[in-house]
Amino acid sequence: MACRFCGFRIQSYLLRNTFRSKSLFHLARSNFSGSLQDEKLSQLSYWKERYKDKHSKVFEWFLEPGEIVETLLDRIQVSRWQPLHYLDLGCGLSDLSLHLLTQRQQSVSAVLVDFVPEALHYQCMKFKDYMDQGRVPLKSMQHLVCADVKCLPLKDDVFHVVLDKGTMDALIKDKVHGHINSMLMMSEILRVLTPCGRYLQISDEDPDSRLPFLEKLYAADSNMFAERSPNVNETTQKSFKLSSWKFELLPSCSGTEYFLYWVEKL
Ligand SMILES: C[S@@+](CC[C@H](N)C(=O)[O-])C[C@H]1O[C@@H](n2cnc3c(N)ncnc32)[C@H](O)[C@@H]1O
Repeated sequence: MACRFCGFRIQSYLLRNTFRSKSLFHLARSNFSGSLQDEKLSQLSYWKERYKDKHSKVFEWFLEPGEIVETLLDRIQVSRWQPLHYLDLGCGLSDLSLHLLTQRQQSVSAVLVDFVPEALHYQCMKFKDYMDQGRVPLKSMQHLVCADVKCLPLKDDVFHVVLDKGTMDALIKDKVHGHINSMLMMSEILRVLTPCGRYLQISDEDPDSRLPFLEKLYAADSNMFAERSPNVNETTQKSFKLSSWKFELLPSCSGTEYFLYWVEKL
């Protein structure tokens, strides 16, 4: 498979094992800026406008990869998995996944998802630069998928780690559908995680508010999806068991507090 923008070839043999269907590149768009309270953050049009600039440079929503990469590697328990199958939901223009991919001489198969193709194009070019510089471990690879995090074109039980840096935060901003959209995203995360796989979420919301939200987000009561969303399919209704949520304060130079939340699929 090749990136439609730059023609850079993306290795496809793992894609066949990883993705549910061949029609992966559902190309969509989006736009952004503004405060974290802004409902626009939940909208495709907002991100489309933000990323339409072809000369977009790296943009970290919050926290620089260098500040948190070691903490994340510890939490991912990278050496448990060989190779590590890793999924970044809402990658945007963040370099975090590339940092994780190149930090260790361990093979990583990374899948980056966003619903804005321009963001994926940026990731594609950046990965190519790293490859050209010999910074990517030999057997590591990156796959790009343009899709909605609420309906992932990915197979069940594939990923050891799912990372979300600011993406559920964005979905929550939708005043009407924020909660159900977050539930659908969570349901998809649990579906694609392997047993013992981890979901890691980075947010600026403090644990007093975020933990009760996360705990309520996934109840092993499949009917709640059927009652509340038309986007229900058999896999959405499947129930999974989870560990309890844990969190820690992340190191940050900015003066703002950011938190890492994580949970395991049992
Ligand atoms: C707050 S930004 C975070 C970007 C990146 N993770 C970072 O840390 O800089 C949220 C990202 O999620 C993407 N996004 C938001 N809603 C999405 C959805 N429903 N499906 C796929 N991507 C989505 C946006 O395009 C944007 O790139």
